[in-house]
Amino acid sequence: MGRQIHLAAHFPGVNNTTVWADPASGSQIDFASFAHLARTAERGKFDFFFLAEGLRLREMKGRIHDLDVMGRPESLTVLAALAGVTTHLGLAATVNSTFNEPYELARRLATLDHLSDGRAAWNVVTSWDAFTGENFRRGGYLAEADRYNRAREMLQTARELWDSWDDGAILADRESGRFVAADQGAFRHAGPQFDISGVFGTPRPPQGHPVIIQAGDSEEGREFAASDADVIFSRHSVLEEARAFFKDVKSRLAKYGRRPDDLKILPAVTAVVADTDAEAVEEAARIRRAQVSAPTALAFVEGVWGRDLSGYDADGPLPDLDPDPGEGVSRGRAQFRGDRAAVARRWRELSEARGGLTIRELVIEATGRQTFVGAPGTVAEQMDDYVQTRGSDGFILVPHLTPTGLDAFVDRVVPLLQERGSLRADYTGATLRDHLGLSGPRRPSVREKDA
Ligand SMILES: Cc1cc2nc3c(=O)[nH]c(=O)nc-3n(C[C@H](O)[C@H](O)[C@H](O)COP(=O)(O)O)c2cc1C
Repeated sequence: MGRQIHLAAHFPGVNNTTVWADPASGSQIDFASFAHLARTAERGKFDFFFLAEGLRLREMKGRIHDLDVMGRPESLTVLAALAGVTTHLGLAATVNSTFNEPYELARRLATLDHLSDGRAAWNVVTSWDAFTGENFRRGGYLAEADRYNRAREMLQTARELWDSWDDGAILADRESGRFVAADQGAFRHAGPQFDISGVFGTPRPPQGHPVIIQAGDSEEGREFAASDADVIFSRHSVLEEARAFFKDVKSRLAKYGRRPDDLKILPAVTAVVADTDAEAVEEAARIRRAQVSAPTALAFVEGVWGRDLSGYDADGPLPDLDPDPGEGVSRGRAQFRGDRAAVARRWRELSEARGGLTIRELVIEATGRQTFVGAPGTVAEQMDDYVQTRGSDGFILVPHLTPTGLDAFVDRVVPLLQERGSLRADYTGATLRDHLGLSGPRRPSVREKDA
């Protein structure tokens, strides 16, 4: 049998993925929307449902960027509610390691793992910036160089807290009158980021430790994933680049005593399914134009150029100005914090190479992710080949519509993947670790270490 494909569903978030103005688009905040997408993913035997996080609304030129969907409820709260309307689906929350404290976060994640009988995951993201930090005001942001130090120690501390209880410690034995087996929860952590001691109040989660996801892409981010994560949410989705990323990250695992299969790499992708390949191609083009309206295209280019370009025509050529090396006009958007001049140069080259793309055509081209387009059989074959040829271990599917955007995929493509033997016909385990084929927590519990 070939490699098994792992699938996850992303509830589309604040970037210009969601076509909120589409007549078929629903609410981004009603529980019914989350429940529909989660139930669809569970019907498709997906491994997990994924929520991103943003701790400050994005801004353009000093104003809230409201061209796209903005504003969303808190992830762990939503996932806790979803635990009640699903039975197998993993529930993955993106939660920042910079603006949280380990005790509180470990408690919330352990609680989700209990409520869902072992289906919780934590996507450890590391945003550090002063812009987001202003929302917290405890001097609460870090130098960029320190964010993975804090992330590592946050995760290590959370693991110590989860390990401070034994499995099965709750006896609740009416006969003997004993509620817990022995003293539980005592911890002491002394490190550069956290110096805390006390008693952890939440019994050990069913999975031992919730599944750990990582999403950063720097050298440090990749090492952190190789040493500590169970899953990577990758932005490298176009096949050749994805293969290079896959190879690079998997080759880093051995030095941490891990096997390549201990870390699943899942890029964010989309799928456009229609009756015929030609119809799907047409639909995919329509979706991209709806995602990248003229104002959205201009805002993207302003973000890269770091300038107000409101006089430019989105259907005309790229600005002949050089990018502004200063502060920029876009805040709270991760991809614009890099070398703007280099991105602008790349975009200009791409436009020229394609015979002079307009601003809007360029943004459509440059900001797209891997899209599987075609009739159901075509999409199933493309996805299967991608995984079998080591592009990834599976995919995080990002629909353009909430909440019905995965209906067609699950109804029409999933059965074909199952026929090919690349996707489970049904869940064979109960926990998210089971679905991902991961063994229990890799770290010995504190108690075992002490023994
Ligand atoms: C695919 C992907 C998804 C991400 N999702 C989020 C998110 O939802 N919230 C967030 O604060 N950061 C998110 N990040 C940002 C990362 O956690 C990290 O802060 C950023 O990539 C910079 O880290 P790096 O220098 O290691 O790449 C995401 C990154 C990637 C690559």
